[in-house]
Amino acid sequence: MRQRRTNMQIWDFEGKTAVITGAAQGIGKMVAEGIVRGGGKAIILDLNEEKAKATAEELGNGSCAYRVDLGSCANIREVMAKVIEENKRIDVVVNCGGIVSRTFFEDLTDEEWQRVHRINLDGTFAMCSSVFRHFKENGGGRIVNVASVAGKIGGGLMGRAAYASSKAAVIGLTKAIAKEGGRYNICCNAVCPALTKTPMTSALDEEANNRIISMIPLGRAAEPYEPAQMILFFASEAASFVNGEIGDVDGGLVLD
Ligand SMILES: NC(=O)c1ccc[n+]([C@@H]2O[C@H](COP(=O)([O-])OP(=O)(O)OC[C@H]3O[C@@H](n4cnc5c(N)ncnc54)[C@H](O)[C@@H]3O)[C@@H](O)[C@H]2O)c1
Repeated sequence: MRQRRTNMQIWDFEGKTAVITGAAQGIGKMVAEGIVRGGGKAIILDLNEEKAKATAEELGNGSCAYRVDLGSCANIREVMAKVIEENKRIDVVVNCGGIVSRTFFEDLTDEEWQRVHRINLDGTFAMCSSVFRHFKENGGGRIVNVASVAGKIGGGLMGRAAYASSKAAVIGLTKAIAKEGGRYNICCNAVCPALTKTPMTSALDEEANNRIISMIPLGRAAEPYEPAQMILFFASEAASFVNGEIGDVDGGLVLD
């Protein structure tokens, strides 16, 4: 662990390369920043190529960006093959990219249900799957999936049925990969944030925002660096014996 700068703990990523999806903005961007502050290289994968490139440039230390559509497993496999070929060795994958669905269950269409699961669940599956063999050949690696408290409590904060279902499935997938990956020194953990101040939640009106905050014992929303800190811990060697853990960063909301 290196020295503390600003309010974010610095974990050691010296000589490590991390792929972070959805890192053009929000929580993912803070994770990418933490990787670089720890001495590592961040590879940003995002649908928003322009923003992803600007973030990589801002971070420096050899960081780079690739456009990916998490809604297409074929595109993910193609991009990840290129990422591995061009960067030689990947040590960490953080699956942060995702979308929210606020539609009530009774109004949910097949299209919205499928789109949310395609991006949040299938996208996470294809990312993990496309790096698993590489990690196995390299003697190990670390995966951190970003789920949500919605996956534990059936939504109801911001995301509803489709979102909650996709994130609950990410939690199950995380545990399964942890079980199968352990023998290859592949660790897979997940982080469940609650309300965090990012572009994703900026659409909430004051009433909805206050209603959600009233459910959180700490009585406030998280800053993006707060879930990022737990993600970085799980991604670092400091968590070398942590595998299959689902960590809540929720101000005391779930308490399980
Ligand atoms: N903000 C919260 O309150 C909160 C709470 C719980 C969980 N989460 C989870 O944390 C993660 C990050 O959320 P955030 O708040 O930073 O969101 P955000 O909307 O600010 O950022 C999400 C990023 O994902 C990218 N993305 C979206 N769809 C994509 C696709 N099809 N292909 C590639 N990239 C795509 C976006 O371009 C964006 O850069 C998400 O998985 C989200 O579900 C967020």
